[in-house]
Amino acid sequence: MDQARNTRLTQVGPGTPGGAVMRQFWQPIALVEEFDPAVNPAMHLRPLKAVRALGQDFVLFKDIQQGADAYALLDRHCAHRGADLAFARFETDGDQVGVRCPFHGWKYAGDGTCLETPAEPTGSTLCQRVRQGSYPTAVHAGVVFAWLGSANSTPPLFPKLDCYQAAASHSFAFKGLWQCNWLQAFEVGIDPAHPSFLHRFLHDVNLDDTGSNAAGKQFRSAAAGQVAGERWPMSRVMRELCQPEIQVAPKDYGMQLTALRALNPASEQAKVTHTRITHAVFPHTFIIPLSETLSITQMHLPVDDTHTYWYSVFTSTGEPIDHAAMREQRVRHTHLPDYAPKSGQHNQWGFNAEEQRSRTYLGMGEDDINVHDQWAVEGMGAIQDRTAEHLGASDIAIAHYRRWLLSAMSLLEAQPSTPLAEVAAQGALAIAPKPFDGFR
Ligand code: FES
Ligand SMILES: [Fe+2]
Repeated sequence: MDQARNTRLTQVGPGTPGGAVMRQFWQPIALVEEFDPAVNPAMHLRPLKAVRALGQDFVLFKDIQQGADAYALLDRHCAHRGADLAFARFETDGDQVGVRCPFHGWKYAGDGTCLETPAEPTGSTLCQRVRQGSYPTAVHAGVVFAWLGSANSTPPLFPKLDCYQAAASHSFAFKGLWQCNWLQAFEVGIDPAHPSFLHRFLHDVNLDDTGSNAAGKQFRSAAAGQVAGERWPMSRVMRELCQPEIQVAPKDYGMQLTALRALNPASEQAKVTHTRITHAVFPHTFIIPLSETLSITQMHLPVDDTHTYWYSVFTSTGEPIDHAAMREQRVRHTHLPDYAPKSGQHNQWGFNAEEQRSRTYLGMGEDDINVHDQWAVEGMGAIQDRTAEHLGASDIAIAHYRRWLLSAMSLLEAQPSTPLAEVAAQGALAIAPKPFDGFR
């Protein structure tokens, strides 16, 4: 790949082709829990925070006039002379909830209406000619989403994924900050070969000890089904069968990836094939199985070109989720309120050479496999240099996905008013995967 194409694939700011694609889809910008005073006591006094998405800066606050679950998103810099509204006064007194800029007192409602310009002469109508940029928001599955499309454009319908349909008792959302471009973060999820290496455990644990805590013990519990009456730990499936057959099929939501691992190819008895399906939902979401009843829907918000927040919604089709336990497992490895992982480049992601020699393939811990993926994508550098890579046949989904993203950019450039999310939902964006050709 040449540098120009890598740049095109990875830029997300205003005015870039990739940014235009992203602005055609709802973007996750905060967890609802970030506004919970029990999580962040500062929210008790002032439920407002600065957020950054697609290279733009905003303030997000609870628009309590519109309802208990309503959020307002405004441009971060005041329309008057650009002061930082992250430090705005949050006003609930008077008849209008809003934020007031501390520089000269201009006040804005959640929809961006300018309510007051108190330093202007009495009778001034300046207020009526000023508007602070504002953006629609929506809350689903414990996540606040924003529509950052151009002014007066209509947001697309929200995608009907299982995680958004599930009852609150059966879903749980969390997020984490990675120091890298969104595309390399996303690409780890559409790479079915990597768990056999990156997440490899050199020994299996007794399946009777793994319990039902699939979210806390990824790749430790039993794979579905049996081989000659024997249950296989996922860790054995991944370790012993590291050349999955990978199939890519275009779908109306994106693409389906199927990784097949034959468990007993030489057996005279019934053949058993381990099947692991990943759904890639355009433009930056994947859905992967964690157990027979638990899945992760993971979105990758491009904060800017060199930072990404992954947002995961765990969804159970079986028992309700133990939210407190699930949250404790994540928070243990995370700094709040920024949701930055405690491990990272500063401590070599917790690397331990002895562990690498004797217990895991990577050597970065056995409890939290998220740090494995974090190392893989952050260790590449903030923006992976794709001019120096050598894709193989096992990278077919990644090669396909890049083509698809580039074609969406070209479509928007040719016809800027194309409702990309609608086109994608109708399957008209999906392109058939080409045979692997090394992606030149
Ligand atoms: S810069 Fe905000 S009121 Fe003047
Ligand atoms: Fe992974």
